[in-house]
Order: sequence, then C-alpha cells, then structure tokens
Amino acid sequence: MLRTDDWWRDAVIYQVYPRSFADSDGDGMGDLPGITSRLPQLKELGVDAVWLSPFYPSPQHDAGYDVADYRGVDRRFGDLGDADKLIAEAHNLDLKIIVDLVPNHTSDQHEWFRAALAAGPGSPERERYIFRDEPPNSWQSVFGGSAWEQVPDGQWYLHLFDVSQPDLNWGNPEVRAEFLDILRFWLDRGVDGFRVDVAHGLVKESNLADWTQSSQILGGLDPAGPPPPMWDQEGVHEIYRSWRALLDEYQGGRILVAEAWVAPASRLARYVRPDEMHQAFNFPYLEAQWRPADLRAVIDESLEASGTVGAPTTWVLSNHDVVRHATRLGYPVGTPRMHGVGAEDPQPDTALGLRRARAATLLMLALPGSVYLYQGEELGLPEHTTMPDEFREDPAWERSGHAERGRDGCRVPLPWEADAPSYGFGPADASWLPQPATWAEYALDRQQGIPGSTWELYRSALELRRQHGLGGGSLTWQDGPFSFRNRDLLVLTNFEEEPVELPPGARVLLSSEPLDGDGRVPADVTVWAAL
Ligand code: GLC
Repeated sequence: MLRTDDWWRDAVIYQVYPRSFADSDGDGMGDLPGITSRLPQLKELGVDAVWLSPFYPSPQHDAGYDVADYRGVDRRFGDLGDADKLIAEAHNLDLKIIVDLVPNHTSDQHEWFRAALAAGPGSPERERYIFRDEPPNSWQSVFGGSAWEQVPDGQWYLHLFDVSQPDLNWGNPEVRAEFLDILRFWLDRGVDGFRVDVAHGLVKESNLADWTQSSQILGGLDPAGPPPPMWDQEGVHEIYRSWRALLDEYQGGRILVAEAWVAPASRLARYVRPDEMHQAFNFPYLEAQWRPADLRAVIDESLEASGTVGAPTTWVLSNHDVVRHATRLGYPVGTPRMHGVGAEDPQPDTALGLRRARAATLLMLALPGSVYLYQGEELGLPEHTTMPDEFREDPAWERSGHAERGRDGCRVPLPWEADAPSYGFGPADASWLPQPATWAEYALDRQQGIPGSTWELYRSALELRRQHGLGGGSLTWQDGPFSFRNRDLLVLTNFEEEPVELPPGARVLLSSEPLDGDGRVPADVTVWAAL
C-alpha cells in the first residue's frame, strides 16, 4: 500500500453492506456498532479500506438507497456518535472509510420532497425535482414500470428507480450547493471518500427526449449507439469537477469512486480524468465470461482506457446488486446476466462455482490497480438461490411483475460462527433475510486458521499482493496458456480441462486449489509462482 495521498491507487477496498454485516443488538438488522466490532477481522484479512453502503435515515424502500436525510444515521443502524466511533476505530487500525453518496434521487420522505408536494406546481420547491404536467416521454424505471408517477394535484415526477426515489433536478443550483455541503459534512467527520451512486445519471438530456430501448443501468445497452437520454450525459462531468476541487482542499487523499454503468471503457475513463473522480467501478470486468479471450480483452481494454487518463484501473467480481460470483460461475459459460435466482430456476453447480470463483479471485488480485471485494466473498459465500419469495424486499421483484427475483440473494446476513444463533450474525436468532442451512460450513470460525479455506486463500493473497507490490505493478502477457507476469510473479489460470505444466523453475507461492500429483495446474485453477 502506498502510504501517501495516493493510497487508493493500489488499494483493496472491502464493501460492507450494513444491513447484513454484523448485528450488535439482536434485532436481525446489522448496525454500525456491529461493523465497528468486526473491523479487526477485516484488518486481519488484509484490506486497506472499507466502503459502507448507505446507513442514513431512510424508509428502506430500496435498502437505504432511498435517503431521507443525508446528514444522519438511521436509528436501525445507530446514531452519528456510532458513525464517529466507527471512523475513529477504522483509522486506529489504519483502515480508510468510504461512505456511499446517493445524489441522483432522494427518498420521497426527504424534507425537500415533502415540501415539494406541499408547495404545489410552479413552486421553487418543485424545481428541486423533475415535475411535469404530463409525462414528456415513455421512460421506464430501472426496477420496472413507468418512470413517471402522478401526484394528487395532477403533476408527474420522474423516478428512474423506485416510485419512492424521486430524481433530483441537477440543473438547479440549490441542488448543487446542497450536495457540496453534504460532502463537507462527511469530510469534516473524517471519511476518506465517497462511492457515488448512479454517477452517470444525475444530468438528463435537456429535452427529456423519448427512449424506447432498455432502461437498464446494468448493461444491455449498445456501446456503439448514442447514450440514452438519462445516462452518461456530458453535463455530469462538471459536477464531479466541482466535487474534486472540494475534496482537494482536504488532507489525506480523500477519494471519489463512480458507480457508472457506461460503455465502452473509453467513456468510463472520462469519469476519472485528473480533475474528476479518482476511480470508477469496472463493471465490464465483472460481466466478462469465464473465457480466457474475453478476460484478456477486458483486462487490456481497461488498462489501456484508464492509462490514457492516468487513473488506476479497478477490478470487481461481486457487489450488492449482482448475483455473487461463486454462484454466477457455477452456471454454464455463456449464461447471460441473471437478475436474481429463485428456487424454481435452474440451480448452479455449487462446487464448480466455488472452484472457479477462487481461481477468478486469485487472477483478479494479481492485476495492477485497485480491487473491490464484497462482504462474504472471502468466505466463498454463494448467492441464496432458494430463498422463499415471501422474504424478498428488493423493489425490483414487485415492480418487474415478478419477472426479476432481484438482489436479495446476495444480501443475506453473514455467517461468523457455525454453531451460534444466526450463525453469529447477531446475538439473537434473527436475520432480516433468511440464512440458508448450508451457511454453517461457510462461517468464518470454520475457516480462520484452516489451510486451504477460502478465507485463508484471500488472506494469503492479500499479503502476497502487498509484499510483491502487485497493485502498483504492470502486466505482461506470456505465450502459451493464459498467463501474465506482474513484478516478479507469474500468474497462470488454466481454463482448459487438461492440466497444464508450469514453466521450468517456477516456484509456486499460492494456488487456488492443490496442484495435481505431477505438479501440474488442474482445470479452473489459478497459480501465483515466483520465476
Ligand atoms: C445503485 C445501487 C443500487 C440502488 C440504485 C438506486 O445502482 O448500487 O443498490 O438500488 O443505485 O439507488
């Protein structure tokens, strides 16, 4: 890790989903004191920073991405004092803290939206949102259904997500000023950065032109076509330049990371130009199939595009919006993106999924740049693919008319102790989403100190990654089976069924599964070797 303001260039950043990480009071919902109590374990795992999904006051119609107050903590998760303690304890452990900022929309319970409804058509309060007398287009919500909702006085407002998430009007200077102030609020409390939700959505095409193609943010767009009128508009960049200028007033390397589902990589690189954000999530990498040619292409494109603007590339395989990679990789190669998995859907090959996930992770952790991990992947956790539908909370499930199961399956509370109630998630046998019976075998206490466990694989990989400076290194492809050099390491993944030989003299430092009896690399295994 670079111990300077550039810490983020090679950082491993661990995503905590507060609802599901650790519950201190036994109500079945994770909370900030729970997170604070488990920080030492993240330090031991070897991450550099923690990104927290939203913990702000919220009616929780979209699991906290519907924010009612940007300067507080939801009572379910604690209070501001708990946030301060969490930040202080993280800093004691030399961990950075990144918080989530949700600027595209507020909750309909935010005081601004309530004021907008009360003040009526034509008022300055309505100007903070996008109200029209008639829906000017047929835009669809990302979660399904129309993106326009009528209010009692007859006007309509835009919500690209749930009906309870009205989009803000970023053409209004008051909105811009408010968010600069919110950034200051958290910077002054000591946070090290912000993950910016739906960073490609804030500014809409000025005429709100119609758009009849997919409204998905999560892929599905033609990268060669024009950007849709709701995404990736030129005007967003000016906003990020103003935020960057503010962050640069603070010491210690505060960062902005964009959640921007844009393609191709050269468009994404525009979000991380030197005077804009520091990082952007690399979703094309997450979406790449388990094929050597696909992975090589996306790695090259990513490195090239970020290289043109001097930003580090980032890598990610799982987060709270996608099917966990230990499950995705348990389906046949070429399976299209899934929007959740239910009990009646085809089920994954769990063993193959975990094997490939371990290989995929080891490959990712050897790449130069910064890496994002999602809580539970270090335990090898799969998606909950047989959750009874009555537990589902993701608004996408209802809004899609049950066409999409949604994202609850990757948000199940973590197992810490195999034999404790709620597998040690909290002191009680309570968990806001049901934990599968198989969770015991994934529990942290069944893995810590156990050679070959997924947790130990992650810990060893993070240690070696740091020792060998892989995050700050560079990649050179090798001839033969899929392999590259970074610093003094050779990294090889075998995508074929037949085992492959390592080059003469290679000394294996880490391997996602044991080698075969002849020292060869079996199918779906990644090896790090000194050469
Ligand atoms: C982002 C979040 C997702 C949320 C959406 C609306 O994509 O990651 O969880 O539902 O924005 O805020």
